[in-house]
Amino acid sequence: MILNTELEYKGNLFPSKIINYEKNINVLSFTSENGVILQVTVRRDSILRFRYTTTGIFENDFSYAITKYASRGYNHLEVVEKDDKYIITTAKLICHVSKVDLRISLFDAKDNTLICEDELGFHWEESYEYGGDVVKMSKTAQPGESYYGLGDKPVDNNLKGKRFQNWVTDSYAYGRDTDPIYKTIPFYTALHNKKSYGIFFDNTFRSYFDFCHERRNITSFWAHGGEMNYYFIYGPEMSEVVANYTDLTGKPHQLPPLWALGYHQCKWSYYPESNVKEITSKFRELKIPCDAIYLDIDYMDGFRCFTWNKEYFPDPKRMVKELADDGFKTIVIIDPGIKIDMDYSVFKEGLDKDYFCKRADGPYMKGKVWPGECYFPDFTNPEVRDWWSNLFRELIEEIGVKGVWNDMNEPAVMDVPGKSFPDDVRHDYEGNPCSHRKAHNVYGMQMARATYQGLKKFSYPKRPFVITRAAYSGTQRYTSSWTGDNVATWDHLTIANLQAQRMCMSGFSFVGSDIGGFAEQPNGELYARWIQLGIFHPFCRTHSSGDHGDQEPWAFGDTITDVVRKFIEIRYQLLPYLYTAFWRYAEEAIPILKSLVLYDQADPQTHYRNDEFVFGEKILACPVTGPNQKGRRMYIPIGKWYNFWTDELIKGGQEHWVDADLDSMPIFVKEGAIIPKYPIQQYVGEKTIDELILDVYYKLGKETSQVYEDATDGYDYIKGRYSLRDFNLHGKKDELIIQQHKTGKYITTYKTFKLRLHGLPFKISKIEVDNVEIPFSKLKLNGDNTLTLTKEFTELHIMA
Ligand code: GLC
Repeated sequence: MILNTELEYKGNLFPSKIINYEKNINVLSFTSENGVILQVTVRRDSILRFRYTTTGIFENDFSYAITKYASRGYNHLEVVEKDDKYIITTAKLICHVSKVDLRISLFDAKDNTLICEDELGFHWEESYEYGGDVVKMSKTAQPGESYYGLGDKPVDNNLKGKRFQNWVTDSYAYGRDTDPIYKTIPFYTALHNKKSYGIFFDNTFRSYFDFCHERRNITSFWAHGGEMNYYFIYGPEMSEVVANYTDLTGKPHQLPPLWALGYHQCKWSYYPESNVKEITSKFRELKIPCDAIYLDIDYMDGFRCFTWNKEYFPDPKRMVKELADDGFKTIVIIDPGIKIDMDYSVFKEGLDKDYFCKRADGPYMKGKVWPGECYFPDFTNPEVRDWWSNLFRELIEEIGVKGVWNDMNEPAVMDVPGKSFPDDVRHDYEGNPCSHRKAHNVYGMQMARATYQGLKKFSYPKRPFVITRAAYSGTQRYTSSWTGDNVATWDHLTIANLQAQRMCMSGFSFVGSDIGGFAEQPNGELYARWIQLGIFHPFCRTHSSGDHGDQEPWAFGDTITDVVRKFIEIRYQLLPYLYTAFWRYAEEAIPILKSLVLYDQADPQTHYRNDEFVFGEKILACPVTGPNQKGRRMYIPIGKWYNFWTDELIKGGQEHWVDADLDSMPIFVKEGAIIPKYPIQQYVGEKTIDELILDVYYKLGKETSQVYEDATDGYDYIKGRYSLRDFNLHGKKDELIIQQHKTGKYITTYKTFKLRLHGLPFKISKIEVDNVEIPFSKLKLNGDNTLTLTKEFTELHIMA
């Protein structure tokens, strides 16, 4: 099918005038004379869904992306009919529906400013070849409008001026601007006049987005089938837009186990067992913290999923246990391709049960992957997912594997055009049978979901851990992800930074890149700089293709080893901070990384920034992205920030030069922040935490911080066994007040806090804890402004 540009194409069809309007609670239907129906569903005051059919009948309303747990409900809904339009008003939005042609305009209900407006609006082209339509939407770009989001696109943050395609694709050694790559997240946020909205085009067919690329003032999106079906999400804060999108498509179903936020080591491939042990022992010997070790495809018998190569791994259960005793969680890869082999039980069973995908005319979908010719389970069939989930029993329950890595689930097929299934392959699609044109973009998501289901079941009462390469909107509910087969170049370090920020802005925060690059080999400097970035990514793993030499932290000589250790140690110290950010993500849909535009959209300086980002709520980081640098220029957002290394307080709202030799990187802490830290551990749980460090950064004024903790694994936290500390800091000229409010039933192992006061502008002469003056000796107050006090305090006064 050819997609002609909007202007040249003559075959577009348009809705005609409205002849009927119906309202059913929150669903408003507008029917046009030529049979188009527009259904507007008011999901929340700030979320409207727009759905069109050209046939007078809507398809079965089913979406893999939208979660049943999404918040619903609105405070106000009113529809008024005028001569030329219908006006829908909610507490946040006003929506005009033109009677002439169904065109939509959306306004802020508070101040009536125009937010978003259809240009041609909905139009379509009939598709004779496949039936159905190519569905299209075009909107007028507002003056100064910028665009962000769309998942893993390897491009600068601001998408303005570009066109993209969504079609999940295996993209070995992709580069800047390669499109499409592994993920399809058809959601973007737009920003103009300090107001932000988002559009989620929930259509799984091959789709496109054009942000003022084809025509300077027009944004458009279209898909090769299915319905024009999109959600309009209003902010006006971009952070609200992202949170609402994430809520709609799902927050992670549970927190990850804390160890999953530690450092992971991977390579294609560590084998045999002695090699795995050599690697893990070296971590302990060199005292480089590490929580997870990966087995890539060579652990299997001839790449048959759920089997072991007994020559390399004669006793997996023993090995996994020994690794676990040393603090290492074993994670194994599982791909979708099942080797055609009648003596292989998984294949035999899949065949007997009729669980493999078939071509339109009946033959199985046969394709070559690592094991040779394979068949592929149809993960869009719930029965197949159940079966698949049960295949994990032995790996998880018996052998003790702690996590599963789903790869090649685009699905990737070798040596064929399109590197995937042909269009005619059939899928169940939850009882809505369809071709691969519709199921392609969700295949990997459904595989990860099935894997998640298995891990959840067999890891119980511990939490599951899954990682996937392919994804569609909503995949964040089940799994973490990485950015696929990148390359060991400086530009890829920049790309990794962009992709992680973009994924977080697209509702999917548990992401990271192959640190150091998958293809080719980094030099020590590049590896060290990449680790510096990687410790700020929610998922932190070194991985490499292995054919160009080693990529362990010690592979580049002692100087680099020391830098890498130093930064991984910072990650481990920051674990309670990161865990708190994760909890906010899982609970309130707040992205863990915030691009500067997401952090402060009102400051136009942020709209085109790429390298700087906020990690959690209070830490600003910016990688050094080139060789031989002694530092870099970077933009510091408005406010005052402490240099993490020197405690120097600097004023934001402008660019600064920041020193950063190879053993350093630009990191800043927002004034007023309270940053929780754990002692350095070689792996999560190595030490009992007997003191929580709180780095307190003085501010003249007020600031709030939070610390979330729980048992680090298991589900007790859902029953209230968590510990949430809200800190209110109030700095005055001669006094610093910190109030603590604690909720939750979890009792932390430590009894005391060690406060480290940064930037205190006065010499301490008196300290009161809950209105009682405490002698300095009892607080172990030091000349460097560290003091120890009970975790139970509710109000602390530090006075000059
Ligand atoms: C794919 C994956 C990569 C993995 C390799 C072998 O290229 O993206 O991470 O190591 O396959 O399984």
